[in-house]
Amino acid sequence: MKTWRVAAGSGIEGLKTQTEPPAALGPTSVRVRLRAATLNYRDLMVLKGWYPVSGTGPLVPGSDGAGDVIETGAAVTRFKVGDRVTTCFFPDWIEGRMSLPRIATALGAGGAGTLAEEVVLDERSLVATPAHLDYAQAASLTCAGVTAWNALFETGGLKPGQTVLLLGTGGVSIWALQLARAAGVRAIITSSSDAKLERARSLGADALINYTKNPEWSGEVRKLTGGEGVDVVLEVGGEKTAQQSLASVRMQGTVVIIGGVSGFGGAINPRSLIVGATRVQGVYVGSRQMHEDLARFVSGSKIAPVVDKVFAFGEAPEAYRHFEAGRHFGKVGVALV
Ligand SMILES: NC(=O)c1ccc[n+]([C@@H]2O[C@H](COP(=O)([O-])OP(=O)(O)OC[C@H]3O[C@@H](n4cnc5c(N)ncnc54)[C@H](OP(=O)(O)O)[C@@H]3O)[C@@H](O)[C@H]2O)c1
Repeated sequence: MKTWRVAAGSGIEGLKTQTEPPAALGPTSVRVRLRAATLNYRDLMVLKGWYPVSGTGPLVPGSDGAGDVIETGAAVTRFKVGDRVTTCFFPDWIEGRMSLPRIATALGAGGAGTLAEEVVLDERSLVATPAHLDYAQAASLTCAGVTAWNALFETGGLKPGQTVLLLGTGGVSIWALQLARAAGVRAIITSSSDAKLERARSLGADALINYTKNPEWSGEVRKLTGGEGVDVVLEVGGEKTAQQSLASVRMQGTVVIIGGVSGFGGAINPRSLIVGATRVQGVYVGSRQMHEDLARFVSGSKIAPVVDKVFAFGEAPEAYRHFEAGRHFGKVGVALV
């Protein structure tokens, strides 16, 4: 089977394709013929050496994968040959609270990865794919979809009629926009591009802010919410956006800390959190239980996750470059057919 491998920190040019023997199948394992993967900012971080990985040799990158079950171990009961399945970001975090052992084996960081024609995983680390999704759409549930679900509903506790602020039009934010609208949550979204904002409008965004033209955008968010601020912010920007996000949230609202596309520095004045009784809470993707809850919601609401462009297997480096340039809206895929 063909794989892509890369030594962490060796950059996009370090990606090499090769042919490898199939991995052995244990009694509770499932062999999946992957059909599509999608990229996350974190996959870029692995290539740049900014993300912790296990082992020292070249790894198979990628957490997001969707495909077909082609072989099952003798004791497998959850799936059968022919089932369409999607990978779980943390194979060992099934439900309940996070713990170090449960998150130690994230896909694409030294163990199994999805930029390959096949992956072998324990049956408990896979989720049935919603029937209406194609493979690239399904792959995007694994990281961006589950993160958006966790941030909006598990951590953010959003209810219909409340308002969320989403930053930028990347994978997590566009997933969150689609989920929020399907759940009756009002969405304000920012972007550096008016054209991307118009695409967000067509997905149901209620209000649009160009953060390049309006760098103090929290003032606009306040105006749009009658001076009160939003109930929840999904903070993916980090260093350059955190202060604006804190200034955008209502009293006793929640800023969910997800990422740092503008860097991870900066400082928070503790007093600003006290005065607004603001809750600031990090999230790290989510459990299989959250992935299953998301899949059920997606099946019921018939959400079609936005996959901006799908590259061929041999074009994986181009897919990373397209992603790195920030030209995408929603997700970027790699076909593994
Ligand atoms: N904690 C977790 O579990 C978790 C899970 C997934 C992702 N993340 C993190 O979340 C972040 C986003 O991930 P992603 O995969 O969605 O990335 P992505 O698809 O690359 O999206 C990034 C988007 O952020 C926007 N952006 C860039 N600079 C910005 C700024 N200064 N202010 C506001 N928006 C800005 C851009 O939108 P426009 O082009 O519209 O301007 C860009 O498209 C990353 O830091 C990633 O590591 C964390």
